[in-house]
Amino acid sequence: MPKPPRIAIAGAGLMGRAHAAAFQACGAEVVAVVDRDRDRARALAATCGAAARTTVEEALREEPDALSICLPHSLHFDAAMAAAAQGVALLIEKPHCTSLAESRALRGACDRHGVLAMAGFTHRFLATSRRLKASLAAGDLGTVDLVVDRLVANALGDHAPAWYRDRALAGGGIAMIGMIHAIDRLQWLLDSPVTDVLARTRPPAASGAVEDTALAILCFANGAQAALVAHRSPVPGHERAHRYEVLGRRLNASVSIGSFDRQELEFVGPGAPARLEVTDDQPFVTEVREFLAALAEGRPAQPDLAQAELALAVVLALYEAERTRRPVNLREFLAAAPGTPP
Ligand SMILES: NC(=O)c1ccc[n+]([C@@H]2O[C@H](COP(=O)([O-])OP(=O)(O)OC[C@H]3O[C@@H](n4cnc5c(N)ncnc54)[C@H](O)[C@@H]3O)[C@@H](O)[C@H]2O)c1
Repeated sequence: MPKPPRIAIAGAGLMGRAHAAAFQACGAEVVAVVDRDRDRARALAATCGAAARTTVEEALREEPDALSICLPHSLHFDAAMAAAAQGVALLIEKPHCTSLAESRALRGACDRHGVLAMAGFTHRFLATSRRLKASLAAGDLGTVDLVVDRLVANALGDHAPAWYRDRALAGGGIAMIGMIHAIDRLQWLLDSPVTDVLARTRPPAASGAVEDTALAILCFANGAQAALVAHRSPVPGHERAHRYEVLGRRLNASVSIGSFDRQELEFVGPGAPARLEVTDDQPFVTEVREFLAALAEGRPAQPDLAQAELALAVVLALYEAERTRRPVNLREFLAAAPGTPP
């Protein structure tokens, strides 16, 4: 029997705990947990029989096959570069980097070292997303003209660490941490990249504070358009909720992913398929299973870092559109960005 893959987890917060549980559920061995907060590292490490470490470098000495990065955003790059240099595969939470220059340098390092790297865009692994993707790929909805997508998150919810509002660590506000899920999900569902971005944020990026509201209009290469809203509500108890509608010429689809374990997908139109209600989804396990399968088979995994870079580029273009008060063309924005695409 092949030996279980050895996994190190960087960051023992909300996502570190979710990743550790998912890797264990898939039969992997968690060998090291890193957190600068030693007690947090110890607490999670104790649940998996792993070594507790306070730096990524120490964790890499445990010779893991893969590193799962669940740190504040601006810390992803250094951790990923250190692992890639040692040939260690990467599962990196979104956003995988906070700048295009970092993303390009990291992709180059992964290519040079032959390292598998996957980004944690969990929305692709939700049961409702996969069902809708199958319907879109089969042409059931017809040509998609418009998507309306909204996220309302509660700033005072159970889980809102202080760094979420720290520009140096988070790289931005609700667009960088929340709307980026919708951007990747839509580029994947529509199988088409964003070409143009119009946007407003509040407070504006120029204020230095991260935005609590982001409004964006996205144009896709296939002609579809999307209106995206993301808002961090100050109202205690407001449920964190992604909701979106995909409006085709044959069928419309309406999706609610209030929480990952309570999802609904409803089709509207003649001959619409039955409504899908999901209460037992385990998207982190599905995501990790795909990562481990790719690792075992020596093949790439999706979403890869090139796709993650396209989602990051749209968020950064959104900030640029806000700053300049002009629409941003993605192709020109990517061409002008520092760093060389691999
Ligand atoms: N895929 C999803 O659905 C989803 C959901 C929430 C968050 N995320 C992403 O997961 C990542 C982590 O977010 P989170 O909500 O788990 O944050 P968190 O604050 O709960 O966890 C981050 C951990 O990193 C530790 N840390 C901070 N600086 C460190 C350092 N220098 N060295 C080692 N450890 C350090 C903190 O002590 C903390 O335990 C982010 O990229 C976030 O966007 C993804």
